[in-house]
Amino acid sequence: MPITRRELITGAAAGAGGLVIGGVTGSLIGGGDDGGGGGGETSLSGQAAKVAEERKLSPDDVTRAVKTFIPPGGEAKDEFFLICSGGHSGQVIVMGVPSMRTLKVIGVFAPEPWQGHATGAAHSNEIISKGTDAKSKPTSAAGGNLTWGDTHHPALSETKGEYDGRWAYINDRANGRIAMIDLRDFKVKQIVDVPNLDSSHGGVFCTPNSEYVHISTMSPTLLDPTKAETALANFKDAFRGFSTFLKVDEKTGRMDLAKSFQIELPPYTQDLADSGKLVSDGWVFINSYNSEMAFGGNNEGGKPLEVGASANDFDMMHIINWKKAEQVVASKAKTINGMRVIPMDVAVSEGILHLAPEPKSPHGVDVAPNGNYISVGGKLDPHVTIYSMEKIKAAIEKKDYEKVDQFGVPVLKLDSVVAGRVEVGLGPLHTQYDAEGHGYISLFLDSAVAKFSLGEPYFSGDKTFQLVDKLPVHYNIGHLCTMEGDTVSPKGKYLIALNKWSIDRFPVVGTLKPQNFQLVDLTGEKMEILSETSIGLGEPHYVQAIAVDKVKAWEVYPLGTNPGTMEKDPNSIDTGGEKYQRNGTTVEAWVSVKRSQFKPDIIRAKKGDKVILHLTNVEKTPDATHGFSIPRYNINVSLDPGEYSKVEFTADAQGTFAFYCTEFCSALHLEMQGWLVVG
Ligand code: CUA
Repeated sequence: MPITRRELITGAAAGAGGLVIGGVTGSLIGGGDDGGGGGGETSLSGQAAKVAEERKLSPDDVTRAVKTFIPPGGEAKDEFFLICSGGHSGQVIVMGVPSMRTLKVIGVFAPEPWQGHATGAAHSNEIISKGTDAKSKPTSAAGGNLTWGDTHHPALSETKGEYDGRWAYINDRANGRIAMIDLRDFKVKQIVDVPNLDSSHGGVFCTPNSEYVHISTMSPTLLDPTKAETALANFKDAFRGFSTFLKVDEKTGRMDLAKSFQIELPPYTQDLADSGKLVSDGWVFINSYNSEMAFGGNNEGGKPLEVGASANDFDMMHIINWKKAEQVVASKAKTINGMRVIPMDVAVSEGILHLAPEPKSPHGVDVAPNGNYISVGGKLDPHVTIYSMEKIKAAIEKKDYEKVDQFGVPVLKLDSVVAGRVEVGLGPLHTQYDAEGHGYISLFLDSAVAKFSLGEPYFSGDKTFQLVDKLPVHYNIGHLCTMEGDTVSPKGKYLIALNKWSIDRFPVVGTLKPQNFQLVDLTGEKMEILSETSIGLGEPHYVQAIAVDKVKAWEVYPLGTNPGTMEKDPNSIDTGGEKYQRNGTTVEAWVSVKRSQFKPDIIRAKKGDKVILHLTNVEKTPDATHGFSIPRYNINVSLDPGEYSKVEFTADAQGTFAFYCTEFCSALHLEMQGWLVVG
């Protein structure tokens, strides 16, 4: 007899439970759809009680399990994808909610042999190599291509302010780069080495219709590298920040530098950023710290950088009118390192750039679903400060300035632009939202999440800007994520706490410990932790959650698809199209790949020949993936069903090289091999 998860939770399954999960009856799971836990009348009986007792699980634990369990082959499925940065693993992790299962790891800035990323496929090598080519940046120090990155902030593409499930962008905090992942096959398609950006922390998001993806500097950029020796002492003139609007091709999702532009900013350390939406559409907000422009020097008689950078009571939120910038860029930009840049004085005179004070070393600047409220956490201030776009617009209109900063940028009066403040606790960082007018802010020092209320139209009178609830998490939370919580229509239900430390939570696996994602239930009066999941694949920094049914991922590639173009490659073949030819010193083969053979399976070359292999997986069955590896040539590509991949190398090592299929594809998987003979 089938039994649904909802019936179980609401108690409608009383009496039927024995068939499916033992003796869990209606009353024992709390008897109501009330968010669970919370100490309702709960008891267990029968088989479930026995198992629960043996495993030391309380009735509340059982409720939590029922809320997150995905039965094998059952109807309950994950509702959301988490698109997680992987930190300095250079990768992106895809997980499911509520199960918190890891579904995929996407190689982005770093090689990922399972997907054949940066391990021999021509299209993948091209992505990596074009991703290290900005004129403004020296590459010689790295000896060529960079093969690592520090993925920080994913940004899902949007239509009308909602995630549309087409593309995900992710920045490399280390090198000021950004990558595009196509959600049709969950693979990276492009890495852009953004000119004039040596680094980038959190300034990544898409504008509401994915007109642009934004990325800004973190450490300000030295304008003239030949003046490096005296630059630090001359910080104010030598360095600048840049806000970058990368034009997104509406068909392919690729970023086009020729149609992109930057806005020159003061050399404050620009930090997180967010796009306006609805009432604030056309604007972006970037917070900054170190408006003191401290640069350290604790070994040269100076103060430690963090002391100098925390001296002032206020730093500066940057308020940028990008629609205005878009209008003036053609006539008023100058070109620096191939990028159109609107100079700071033009940005000021055109009303494109304003500043507003932000309390002590702020972090997180997050626009609420209605576009009016902008929440800023002050790392060293126990409040979240909530700005209002309506007030900002009025203040700009009235030129309600408290001063002009040392770069000539007008600074709006704090009182004119702030709508409310809520004392939330120690170390407030990032805010996400639900659809009912609540913000959820992470508190790093408190190791907690605070829930607070916004103002009109969500709440009125003494219900506005109040602390509503607070939940301890474990431990040292950085970012958090509610479901589609930075769009115009958050989906509520769950929150993920991205905890940096996990001491005492998991079995010890040596000195480098996993991070701890805690899944939090938002459906009840009080927030409640449902589960915790170790993350041993990197250091996820930020995560966005998108409804699974919005992503229209392919199950198989149409035959002969080159993932680099997402189109049929002219060199792809079907069964029967196999060829092998020599042209001077070039050996070229068109190879079909299927269970359980490569054809042709002997490739003969002379030492020094150029070898070009066109590999097509001619399978049409989902899951029928093969791999192609020539180990000593450092080649390993994945050939998903229908995929075409080109492999090109110089046969500079003599010998017989057994190539093989790296994917356990069939009963005769081990027999799926061949020879590269280099004579
Ligand atoms: Cu094909 Cu293993």
